[in-house]
Amino acid sequence: MLFSLEQISYRRAGRAVLSDLTADLAEGTTALVGPSGAGKSTLLRLLNRLADPHAGTVHYRGRDVRDYDVLALRREVALVPQLPALLAGTVANNVSYGPRLRGEECDIDCALALAGLDASFAGRTAYQLSVGEQQRVMLARALALEPRVLLLDEPTAALDERARDAIERTLLEVSARMSAGLIFVTHDRAQARRLADRLVHIDNGRIATGLGPRP
Ligand SMILES: Nc1ncnc2c1ncn2[C@@H]1O[C@H](COP(=O)(O)OP(=O)(O)OP(=O)(O)O)[C@@H](O)[C@H]1O
Ligand SMILES: [Mg+2]
Repeated sequence: MLFSLEQISYRRAGRAVLSDLTADLAEGTTALVGPSGAGKSTLLRLLNRLADPHAGTVHYRGRDVRDYDVLALRREVALVPQLPALLAGTVANNVSYGPRLRGEECDIDCALALAGLDASFAGRTAYQLSVGEQQRVMLARALALEPRVLLLDEPTAALDERARDAIERTLLEVSARMSAGLIFVTHDRAQARRLADRLVHIDNGRIATGLGPRP
């Protein structure tokens, strides 16, 4: 099993955000769906320890996530957040950041192309890009890490249909190529059907329906 969540509870500002949530997320592609405020982004952040639950355990490949070195875990399980958060400087600087920390080279143009951006973006100033462009740079940055699992929080929410189709093609290609998988949040049921092997519905911090077959 890729991830197993057992009786997870998570609170923010005294309110329960996730309540006694238990779910298995298998290899392949999983779509997380549910109303705004349901806890989808929060759940995604628990998977690579950007947050830790107040109760319950998260297992990744059969091991408690707290038993992994946290940086090693985040390299292996990369999250593309809902809101872009780019570093200062150029797009190239952002895309090469992770590999550079590891003392590795990376193919910036290739990562950009996978994320639907042409090579001319490499020299652009990151904060001057549109939100949709920034989201794609965030995806390129995650892909440059060559993660085993990609967590995507509404990866195409700011994109037009053409850019969305390009990202979906990349996600299908990446999931076919990666050994493990893809977990993405979406409000778009049709997108969930196009990309996912299964759907997990979260409502009010709980699993609303079990792990279904292909949506
Ligand atoms: N920093 C915070 N402080 C207080 N409450 C928070 C904080 N972050 C999230 N919450 C609350 O936790 C709940 C779940 O938030 P979360 O971002 O996980 O929802 P979501 O399902 O991703 O929603 P959306 O579809 O709108 O992105 C919401 O009610 C939100 O208000
Ligand atoms: Mg969210």
